[in-house]
Amino acid sequence: MALLEIHDLHVRVENREIIRGLHLNVNAGEVHAIMGPNGSGKSTLSHVIAGKPGYEITGGQVLFRGENLLRMEPNERAAKGVFLAFQYPVDIPGVTTMNFLRAALNAQRKARDQREFSTPEFLKRVREVAGSLKIPHDMIKRGVNVGFSGGEKKRNEILQMALLEPSLCILDEIDSGLDIDALRIVASGINALRSPARAMILITHYRRLLDHIVPDIVHVMSKGRVRKSGGKELALELEACGYAQFEDAA
Ligand SMILES: Nc1ncnc2c1ncn2[C@@H]1O[C@H](COP(=O)(O)OP(=O)(O)OP(=O)(O)O)[C@@H](O)[C@H]1O
Ligand SMILES: [Mg+2]
Repeated sequence: MALLEIHDLHVRVENREIIRGLHLNVNAGEVHAIMGPNGSGKSTLSHVIAGKPGYEITGGQVLFRGENLLRMEPNERAAKGVFLAFQYPVDIPGVTTMNFLRAALNAQRKARDQREFSTPEFLKRVREVAGSLKIPHDMIKRGVNVGFSGGEKKRNEILQMALLEPSLCILDEIDSGLDIDALRIVASGINALRSPARAMILITHYRRLLDHIVPDIVHVMSKGRVRKSGGKELALELEACGYAQFEDAA
């Protein structure tokens, strides 16, 4: 059984069909990349998997370990191990990153019948992971994403992911806005989380990310559907030829 199975998914937003018969199977241990033109529905797909409200599912199935994911609340999905790093992470003024991470982590441990971390245990864990991602300590004492630069927000998403240890990581344009050094740091943080038990979906526009995190499978998405899947060489082909051929197929 695949970790994630999406079968003939149809999604409408504001009465427009955005996802139009999408199929995708992701096995544990695999890293998939999804590439595709602006507006093809990549973020919409990631939101639907994570359970963001505002989308009307008009057909198809999304199974996570064989269970109907679409029937679960977003927090239940997170507890089951689904994680989304947003393309545009939101600010949460008034809640420090530290408190946010701790609440998220403990809520999830509770839902999994694991005991909550004590304060010293939690602090030690955050310091280790934040250190490896070169996130300064004063940043995690600030409101979540408040006044963070674009690249800092992306690093903060990876900090959350590393602490939560999800089994399905969906990273929506995690490379956007990162400088060259930050890209390397973020990529090595992501690579450190690769494991036979975990799967990742990287949504990106740039082959450069895939030089750092080498995917097993690359999909081209256009107009709400996966139009072509292949190995990592497909990313090179796209860079050379663009998306026009897939637009025609659509
Ligand atoms: N809340 C909304 N209201 C109206 N239209 C929406 C909404 N959310 C998404 N759309 C539309 O759905 C389409 C797909 O958007 P989506 O953000 O999924 O694209 P994307 O593939 O992630 O693009 P990008 O590469 O630019 O991030 C777009 O045409 C967008 O305008
Ligand atoms: Mg997007």
